[in-house]
Amino acid sequence: MTKTALVTGGARGIGRACALALADAGFDVALVDLLEVEMAATARDIEARGRRALTFQADVSDFARAHAIVEQVGATWKQLDVLLNNAGAANPKPILEITEAEFDRTIAINLKSCFNFIHAAAPVMLEQDAGGRIISISSINALSGGVTSAVSKHAYAAAKAGILGLTRSLAKELGPKVAVNAICPGIIATDLLRNLLDDRKEQLTAGIAMGRVGTPEDVASIVRYLATEAHMFMTGQHFVVDGFQWSC
Ligand SMILES: NC(=O)c1ccc[n+]([C@@H]2O[C@H](COP(=O)([O-])OP(=O)(O)OC[C@H]3O[C@@H](n4cnc5c(N)ncnc54)[C@H](O)[C@@H]3O)[C@@H](O)[C@H]2O)c1
Repeated sequence: MTKTALVTGGARGIGRACALALADAGFDVALVDLLEVEMAATARDIEARGRRALTFQADVSDFARAHAIVEQVGATWKQLDVLLNNAGAANPKPILEITEAEFDRTIAINLKSCFNFIHAAAPVMLEQDAGGRIISISSINALSGGVTSAVSKHAYAAAKAGILGLTRSLAKELGPKVAVNAICPGIIATDLLRNLLDDRKEQLTAGIAMGRVGTPEDVASIVRYLATEAHMFMTGQHFVVDGFQWSC
């Protein structure tokens, strides 16, 4: 039976690259995103690779919607092998300016979204013979507090650090049937960082051992590995994909 994956935030950027890498690896892919047009384009590119695609226009912070989506994927494809929690957004604000609602929203988009989809997908993965793989996109912000001292990202950093706790705890709870891992990308050239890269690309690149910022495909290759590795013995881990950013 063809393996299946669900990718949140799969319309563009890292999520799109991961969705296409999974399609190249033989997965049918369900996409969840707010951006209908971009998501449809990713779905067409999945189908151009000979795989099936499903699209769900939804806000990942909505618990009930996450459950409804996972249920529909299960009803359509009868299995869910990989969940990639990728959707995320930053709203940088100094602590003296951020409102309670803005803090809550950042946590909801970046962290609660992971809980929502894992809560829905875990029972399916535990029940099926093949088990499953859960991969969540955290950030080096979770480890460093932020890649640039000029931008305060404490809410985002807290949410992304929360993903690491969720990952380690759920790896224990869901093992051995389900492997749960996280990825901490560094500076990856996507729309999320367009302004920062336009303004400070040279300065940022100078502090990266590999001499360049990352691409969505750099992250997708690790996702593909974690999704397809036959003899998976890694769980509860986070993998830093940042070209070794030692300074910025
Ligand atoms: N670009 C980077 O340098 C970088 C570094 C570390 C971590 N990340 C993380 O990687 C992930 C992907 O980021 P990206 O750089 O590709 O950004 P992006 O903005 O290009 O893509 C994010 C996608 O998530 C979707 N999304 C955002 N909020 C949503 C919501 N509430 N409901 C549904 N979909 C939603 C967006 O529509 C978009 O398609 C994010 O979790 C981000 O925090 C990115």
